[in-house]
Amino acid sequence: MPDPLVLGIETSCDETGVALVRGDTLLFDAVASSMDEHARYGGIIPEVASRAHLEAMVPTIRRALGEADVDLSEVDAIAVTAGPGLVGPLTIGASAAKALSIGLDKPLYGVNHIIGHAAVNQLVDGPFTERSMALVVSGGHSSLLLVDDIATDVTELGSTLDDAAGEAFDKVGRLLGLPYPGGPHIDRLAREGDPEAIRFPRGLTARKDQEKHAYDFSFSGLKTAVARWVEACEDSGKEVPVADVAASFAAAVVDVLTAKTIAACRAHDVETLVIGGGFSANSQLRELAAARCAEAGIDLRIPPIRYCTDNGAMIAALGSAVVRAGLPPSDLDIGVDSSMPL
Ligand code: KG4
Ligand code: ZN
Repeated sequence: MPDPLVLGIETSCDETGVALVRGDTLLFDAVASSMDEHARYGGIIPEVASRAHLEAMVPTIRRALGEADVDLSEVDAIAVTAGPGLVGPLTIGASAAKALSIGLDKPLYGVNHIIGHAAVNQLVDGPFTERSMALVVSGGHSSLLLVDDIATDVTELGSTLDDAAGEAFDKVGRLLGLPYPGGPHIDRLAREGDPEAIRFPRGLTARKDQEKHAYDFSFSGLKTAVARWVEACEDSGKEVPVADVAASFAAAVVDVLTAKTIAACRAHDVETLVIGGGFSANSQLRELAAARCAEAGIDLRIPPIRYCTDNGAMIAALGSAVVRAGLPPSDLDIGVDSSMPL
């Protein structure tokens, strides 16, 4: 019997993603984004995102089916992001998924967005065959996951106590007068600056934090340190060395992310590390993670950028794993959860 054909729907933030996956094979992944609208406001406006999902949903489903050359009647199961994310946008995706489930009389699976960011890797680099570590970093999350089985056994070792990595980049971007989202702009500027020009603090790395927060992250103190440094520079009438600030700030973020992740791999005897989420587009992170993983003998998997940002393939991939694991479908009255635990 062939593996079931799973249609995945993702709407937790500003991307409307719909994909079709069979087993660990991606048939097609269609994404529509409302980021251009949010960029004008300097941040995601949930109501604007919800309306955009509502408008994009049916065309994006049609596009995925058309490009994959699949008829809706062939779909065996529907997977949808049930959280975490923005409630309004999540609700649009969940409503569409429920309608499909009722209309097709096929099971519905509400799945976790953060686990999805790790699961999508299986479509690119093949199934996880052994215990793996996943670092999921984006504008909304910085989470370190121990993955024994992507469908049934994922443990969160740590997460951010305040700002996510991408969020910290976006806030520092605003502080430096860069357009929203600031992450990619800081990345570009940082490549021209000296990462050792300014020694910014490394959050939650002090010895006193080791016991309770060994694998947690905190970037808001760093953001404040950058703000103070820039203010002091301006007050003294000097020109702010923007590239050096960007490079030193980026170095502080990726130093902590990679050091804690490698320490977790060592502590749990893990030899495969998956990095996902929109922030994994960051070149400082990619370079440092590659260097430190090579040194530690860890196999590093980072998918192409289009599978790092939010997309439907991640949800279809996780849905496919969940269906094959034989887990029961969700009730049709499931709600969405903005801060859904794993
Ligand atoms: O996964 P994603 O598309 O959406 C969320 O779920 O948040 O991630 C977007 C985040 C934004 O904060 C954006 O600034 C950041 O990822 N980002 C980057 C880079 N590309 C995207 N941050 C740093 N360097 C980049 N190259
Ligand atoms: Zn995400």
